[in-house]
Amino acid sequence: MNHLISCTIDFVKEKLHGAEAGHDWFHIERVWKLSKKIAETENCNLEVVELSALLHDIADPKFHGGNETLALKISQDFLENQNVSNAIIEQVLFIIQNISFKNRGEAPKDLPIELKIVQDADRLDAIGAIGIARTFNFGGFKNNLMYHPEIPPKLNMTKEEYKKNEGTTINHFYEKLLLLKDLMNTEKGKELAQERHDFMQKFLDEFYKEWNVT
Ligand code: ADP
Ligand code: NI
Repeated sequence: MNHLISCTIDFVKEKLHGAEAGHDWFHIERVWKLSKKIAETENCNLEVVELSALLHDIADPKFHGGNETLALKISQDFLENQNVSNAIIEQVLFIIQNISFKNRGEAPKDLPIELKIVQDADRLDAIGAIGIARTFNFGGFKNNLMYHPEIPPKLNMTKEEYKKNEGTTINHFYEKLLLLKDLMNTEKGKELAQERHDFMQKFLDEFYKEWNVT
């Protein structure tokens, strides 16, 4: 492995020590590996892909009092210290800034392939069995209800509403997770998303069956 990537891994592991289990080093490792897998099928700058995957959640605003620029600052300082070229730093920061689901309304239309790859990888880790586990872990972390038969999902929330939303964990499936399959950018991402999507549907069917004891 190249020196810059191994230094970045050490930096991220240290920074994310003690993070919520859905946004910890293991999430980053899965996204990094998925990004490399998708990158094999696309013509892209692999260094930009790997650095962005590794740094994309270095300071998630939802765990830092809503601060949306901290991740950029931390990443920029780190990459400058590693003597990474300005051209690469600019591309990585652009990806970190625009990768998020909640920012999708604000992102420019014409996205670089490196962003599309890391975004697909991050979205794949939000769905399927891992996605289900992460979502319930986050719901527990926030002390949200798992499910309430009388609280319907809120579709088409604005970014502000999405951030404030205190709905149930099951509603998060309808508000985000089940929408991701059709938002995948790359062919490889779409292919990998389908199986994970079907698994979530099966999980929900089973969940309601067990909830509604007759
Ligand atoms: P992004 O980091 O792409 O903006 P989110 O902020 O939606 O995405 O969060 C990433 C992951 O955190 C989700 O895929 C989910 O597992 C979990 N999560 C976020 N918001 C909620 C929520 N309201 N209820 C349950 N899980 C959530
Ligand atoms: Ni992520």
